[in-house]
Amino acid sequence: MSSAEEIKTKLDIVDVIREYIQVKAVGANFQALCPFHHEKSPSFVISPDKQIWHCFGCGKGGDVLSFVQEMEGLSFPDTLRLLAPKAGVTLKYESTQEYSKRGRLLDCLLAASEQGQYWLEHDAMGKKMKAYLLKRGLSEKTLKDWQVGYVPDAWTPMLDYLRSKKFKDEEIFAAGLAGRSERGSAYDRFRDRIIFPIKDVSGHVIAFTARVNPEKEQTIPGGKYINSPQTEVYDKSRVLFALDKAKRNIKDRGFAIVVEGQMDAIACHQHGFTNTVASSGTALTAEQLNLLKRFSNNIALSFDMDTAGQLAADRGIREAMALDINLKIITLSAEYKDPDQCLQTNPDDFKQAVINSRPVMEYYFDKISAGKDLSKLADKKEVVRLMLNMIVKLANKIDQEFWFKRLAESTGVSEQILRESVVDKPLKGKTPLKTVVKPAVAELEPVNRDERLADILLALLLKAPEYIPYAASHLEPEDLLSDNLRQFYKNLIIYYNKFALLEYDAFRLYLQEQADKGVEIIDRLALLAERDYYDYDLNQLKSELSKILLELKKFSLKRKIKQLEGQIGVAEASSGQADLNNLMTEIKNLTEQLNSLHSF
Ligand code: UTP
Ligand code: MN
Repeated sequence: MSSAEEIKTKLDIVDVIREYIQVKAVGANFQALCPFHHEKSPSFVISPDKQIWHCFGCGKGGDVLSFVQEMEGLSFPDTLRLLAPKAGVTLKYESTQEYSKRGRLLDCLLAASEQGQYWLEHDAMGKKMKAYLLKRGLSEKTLKDWQVGYVPDAWTPMLDYLRSKKFKDEEIFAAGLAGRSERGSAYDRFRDRIIFPIKDVSGHVIAFTARVNPEKEQTIPGGKYINSPQTEVYDKSRVLFALDKAKRNIKDRGFAIVVEGQMDAIACHQHGFTNTVASSGTALTAEQLNLLKRFSNNIALSFDMDTAGQLAADRGIREAMALDINLKIITLSAEYKDPDQCLQTNPDDFKQAVINSRPVMEYYFDKISAGKDLSKLADKKEVVRLMLNMIVKLANKIDQEFWFKRLAESTGVSEQILRESVVDKPLKGKTPLKTVVKPAVAELEPVNRDERLADILLALLLKAPEYIPYAASHLEPEDLLSDNLRQFYKNLIIYYNKFALLEYDAFRLYLQEQADKGVEIIDRLALLAERDYYDYDLNQLKSELSKILLELKKFSLKRKIKQLEGQIGVAEASSGQADLNNLMTEIKNLTEQLNSLHSF
């Protein structure tokens, strides 16, 4: 058995997918909102029996490996690397070439992180840094859990260490751990800094954020924090600090807390707010929000938003609104600079602040109306203008409706006037939505009814193969329009005639051995039947089948008639009366056949 097969047999597809998205049991299967395209109702189906998944919205599908591969954006070998430990499988690599480049970079980053931890324990300055972190309230356990490290104050300690571990300079550079001076000499990117590994959603170290040595905080030029640059494994707009640790808890608790700083996130986790992630000091990107949405649609934001203007200008907030995320704002009392400080001083205050968090629109409304006198025209106009600007950003019509009403009530301006004042630009305000949502994947679900019906027919036959002869007696493969489906139908009939039964796995293998396109179709069809007909008994399936066969036959006849009618013109112009007569007779026959079709 290959490693891939071994991993597949040891993992349950539902368990694995559950780690990424919320799934719901429906009949014998599971359904979810597809993580690969934007949708409001679930078209993503998982079959635990067959250990496959398929999305009827965007057409993607496959097994547990392809799901993880797609989700994590990994190569196939990397996917195996990621899943092997979960499955308790040891990969047998025949050659080091099978370690992809990405794998090498991840190894390099992991080695760097381990060495950083070593230095935090053993380097003289490292020990001081550790004392500083402990004094800031982080526990020993927290430092270990987060693999906090330190890099000594020299030009190349990390480079030297990694070289000694047989990493090539090009790998160390590609991992973002070293830079080159203008004169061309290599140096460590992080020197005399506390380093915090940044991990991807599945827990690989992909980058670092590094805090200046607090003893030099005032004297060092450059930022208090510096981060790894963009690399092949690190795209900062797609990563959220601590998401690997928080994802489970976000799902369990039903919401995510988003803070600005890494130190804030770590402190939050230590104090039991294990559903916290950090944006690392920047506005949230659409990608980050989409990442969070996989686990929950509720976000409580603890950002320092001093003014309403800051909030309205924050790109992350605007995108969250456009993505229809339920966004709440956590307000800390003014004595605290950030969540970390609040937790160090009085954890209960933070807890209370989370409980008291308010929906973003309410929060904003309070902020902009504070100190305003709505009986004064100028104030009223100002409040209305600002609120309307936010209302149009709401992706959800029900939210919009609610806020139009609310604004009308509080300002005394009629709802109609409010609506009219945004009438020329209501949708413009929502343009972020278009750019936010991933490039719309073409709807692959067959567009015309004809093809959709053929899909359903074949799906039903897979579910109830005993009706294949019945179907074949009423509808020929040639009656189907799509080449692929026609071929699939043919195969079904041939296979059934030969073996007098059709068992899913065996038939799938048969298609595979024939290198037939049907392999690509079969899983989709099997799931389609399970999704729409899982609770049908044989009688119900048969009556469904007969309706579909009838309709497909009609489609086919109509198509033929149309085709012949097209030929009439040609015959009139070129060939003789005989041809024309033949055509007419044929059309007449087909039309009669069509009109006499009432049921099968
Ligand atoms: P803060 O300046 O509030 O830092 O920046 P902090 O998190 O409270 O750090 P401590 O408590 O002094 O250690 C908040 C976040 O903004 C980003 C970092 O992600 C930081 O956690 N930041 C800040 C930078 O990227 N570079 C900087 O120079 C400063
Ligand atoms: Mn801080």
